[in-house]
Amino acid sequence: MTRRVRVALKAAVWAVCLYPVALLLYQFQTDNLGANPIEHVTRTLGIWTLRILLASLAMTPLRILFGIAWPIAFRRLLGLFAFFSVCLHFSVWIVLDHFFDWPRMGADILKRPYITVGLLALTLLAPLAATSTAGMVKRLGGLAWQRLHRLVYVAGVLGALHFLWLAKKGRDEPFVYAGVLAILLGVRLVDWARRAVKRRWAAVPASESARAARRGVLALFIVLAIGLAGWLAWPAAGQALRRGQPAPEIAGSPWINSPPLTSSGLKGRVVLVEFWTYG
Ligand code: HEM
Repeated sequence: MTRRVRVALKAAVWAVCLYPVALLLYQFQTDNLGANPIEHVTRTLGIWTLRILLASLAMTPLRILFGIAWPIAFRRLLGLFAFFSVCLHFSVWIVLDHFFDWPRMGADILKRPYITVGLLALTLLAPLAATSTAGMVKRLGGLAWQRLHRLVYVAGVLGALHFLWLAKKGRDEPFVYAGVLAILLGVRLVDWARRAVKRRWAAVPASESARAARRGVLALFIVLAIGLAGWLAWPAAGQALRRGQPAPEIAGSPWINSPPLTSSGLKGRVVLVEFWTYG
């Protein structure tokens, strides 16, 4: 690849990764952030964090599947942008959502599993961003650096879980992202297994193959965990009401001992429904 092409591709990566921030700034400027601006900003930054994270995880599978090696050069940049994006996402949560109310944030982290895993994913990405320079690779040593940077797989799984956990029932998007992640990790797993078999045939020392087997079991566990999460959540999504589907029957007594009213019995009539609940 020529230098000019590399610079153009790098500029394209910068443009795509900064697009959500530019979009949000434009929407802010034109007063177009919607009815719930904080939610809109949080969600836009969240979904783009996941997209960029998955893009960084897709570089190696591209080489494995199609023999295209040049995207690997953008893995570090994409990883840093994923961290940048999640920091903004997190900042919105701290500043706009909770306005530095630390006790309420602590309670939220303990109460909501999707916040807990999101925070864990952010925590895992932090040392990866801090050690992303060539100097840090040298200081840590190639092998230790590589091992540390495998945490990105765990961060990806936690990010996907975060989305699966927080999404409302009936939304398919989190399953699509979890599926893409499972495919990306699955490609690596299959490649690892293929190479392990090859090595075995070449009679590698037993200690190395044992270590490789442990790594394989870990990777398999990660892929199975994503599959299991998707499988557990999928039936619930299937039961949700979709647009165009008739609403389920509602029945109840408006007053104590009064005859029950059903929604089908009220068909064709104007009904005022008021919901209230005890906190
Ligand atoms: C790598 C880490 C993370 C990833 C990949 C991620 C990704 C996402 C995604 C995909 C969404 C949903 C977007 C949509 O609805 O379209 C989301 C929403 C959200 N995230 Fe994250 N997130 C991460 C970390 C965090 C952290 C650290 C926090 C706060 C402690 C957080 C708080 C939230 C909140 C409050 C929402 C909105 C929930 C709602 O709409 O009810 N996330 N995030």
